[in-house]
Amino acid sequence: MIPTQTLTRFVLQEEHKHPQSTGELSTLLTSIGLGVKIISNLVATAGLKGLHGYSGRTNVQGEDTYKLDDEADSVLVDILGASGHFGSLVSEERDGAIEAGEGSENAKYVVAFDPLDGSSNIGSNIPVGTIFTIFRTKTPGKASAEDFMQPGTNVVAAGYSVYGSMTSFVYSCGHGVHGFTLDPSIGEFVLTEENIRIPEQGNIYSANEGYWDIWDTRMQEFMTSLRSKNNKLGGAYTSRYVGSLVADFDRTMRKGGIFLHPANQKRERGKLRLLYECIPLAFIMEQAGGRAIDESMNVLDINPEGIHDRCPFVVGGKREIEYFESFFG
Ligand code: AHG
Ligand code: MN
Ligand code: MN
Repeated sequence: MIPTQTLTRFVLQEEHKHPQSTGELSTLLTSIGLGVKIISNLVATAGLKGLHGYSGRTNVQGEDTYKLDDEADSVLVDILGASGHFGSLVSEERDGAIEAGEGSENAKYVVAFDPLDGSSNIGSNIPVGTIFTIFRTKTPGKASAEDFMQPGTNVVAAGYSVYGSMTSFVYSCGHGVHGFTLDPSIGEFVLTEENIRIPEQGNIYSANEGYWDIWDTRMQEFMTSLRSKNNKLGGAYTSRYVGSLVADFDRTMRKGGIFLHPANQKRERGKLRLLYECIPLAFIMEQAGGRAIDESMNVLDINPEGIHDRCPFVVGGKREIEYFESFFG
């Protein structure tokens, strides 16, 4: 019988490779894993529990939130609070940073997350997910929003889950990207891929072409080229767009190609959020051998100025990103 490699066992084995580890990061990662399992169940049964639809609340982004956005947010805040190992939390659904509870004032880490990504797809059985980023606090003592003002090159760990035909959990601590699949028969995430790598070049592009008229002309020219049989990538690409970042990103990393949610005339810094969407996925993509830019610089080199900053996001294989840069150089 091949021993089942679960997320908990894998995280602990990784911890034991680093003698100075205190186990706090492992506790955070396994706590997030538990939160994701609970959210997976909420997503799967939302229709039965009347949890589809809007919550009636508007978040700091000015977006109407869904009931599941709030439910997923509460699950992660409760579980991470119970872990006692975070100094501060940032959630897409909360205006400000959440202070640590009693007893974790000196925690080493802060966590930012998008509790439910792709909310507009809720109710139509299209995959949604959760995205998280973990940083070390910048200074000892009580953490605050200031501890999140650091570039993605400082990320300690990042990951995401996709609630789809299966529930997957993908994360990296800077030593490769590892994928787990929830086995409902044992209620555990089981390791199903180690060191996921993006293909050098793919043939899929992923963007919401409804923005065409308000895109930069260089973006229009790049997209026109992607659809041409005579482009410098060896021929026309095919289009796939789910509208859930986690699903479009996961497919891009596994099959190759490029995902783009660039700036447009209405949003000069784009729509996606830097801290809990772009930085964690840029970290994962670089660990998988790909790249992520904001049209001109590496996403991981951007210094956040606010916890809800937005960021143009172009992510994928090295070959496609280089080709994109040749239009924006
Ligand atoms: P969220 O549901 O967390 O607000 O994120 C939605 C994001 C992302 O999931 C997706 O890639 C993007 O919004 C889709 O944006 P468009 O509707 O502009 O294509
Ligand atoms: Mn999102
Ligand atoms: Mn969200």
